[in-house]
Amino acid sequence: MAVGVFDSGLGGLTVLDALQRRLPDVPFVYFGDNAHTPYGTRDAEDIFHLTCAGVTRLWDEGCDLVILACNTASAAALRRMQETWVPQDKRVLGVFVPLIEALTERQWGDNSPPREVAVKHVALFATPATVQSRAFQRELAFRAIGVDVEAQPCGGLVDAIEQGDMILAEALVHSHVEALHRRMPRPQAAVLGCTHYPLMEDAFRAALGPDVAVYSQPDRVAASLDDYLTRRPDMRGPGTDSAYLTTGDPIAVGQKATLFLRRKLPFRAA
Ligand code: DGL
Repeated sequence: MAVGVFDSGLGGLTVLDALQRRLPDVPFVYFGDNAHTPYGTRDAEDIFHLTCAGVTRLWDEGCDLVILACNTASAAALRRMQETWVPQDKRVLGVFVPLIEALTERQWGDNSPPREVAVKHVALFATPATVQSRAFQRELAFRAIGVDVEAQPCGGLVDAIEQGDMILAEALVHSHVEALHRRMPRPQAAVLGCTHYPLMEDAFRAALGPDVAVYSQPDRVAASLDDYLTRRPDMRGPGTDSAYLTTGDPIAVGQKATLFLRRKLPFRAA
């Protein structure tokens, strides 16, 4: 009954943490492609092949359902994977839709035509590859009309977080928010469109100020998976054990993961 959770590195742990709190009886197998992080500066072809390799590894662990806890992979590779690559008895789900449903006041699976929503000015903070894909705007346009989105590619931020340099990460958050403010002085909502960014959520909130509603993914993705598994219990794979896999150095990755989640995660080589 295991479910796979994929990310380019440590960011997906923010989603994993929320999943484990919401679904304590489900074994999750985490795969961090730390040897190839960041994905956000790679091209779509590269992201597609790396993501397929990671997801294949999770299938080998008995996970028939894999959550791409990575916006960059969800934006740059997921559609192609679903259309050309995922076998019929497996599922790969992304992290965009639960967040956009929250932003546009929709229940899961509400496929009614796009309509006006309360929020009109949205700041999107994401990796360069996610911004370039325009996947967020595409998914939003299916659900809402008249929403102005200003996207800020946050170059360097994932690298700083992966290296555990939180002082640099905080400085980068401030400079990216400043850059966004030059183009959109008063966003109503800000979307943290990269699963690494919840680790810097306090810095984003401080830089954005109290009037901006900050939308972050982990709890929304967890609620949405809970709902999905209730409808599709057959998608729990045959795996029985939780595991933490990395393509990087398991000791170094485990130490940073412990720092971020404040508990021990026994990473091993993928
Ligand atoms: N955490 C990922 C995301 O949500 C990937 C970041 C990266 O590797 O650049 O986009």
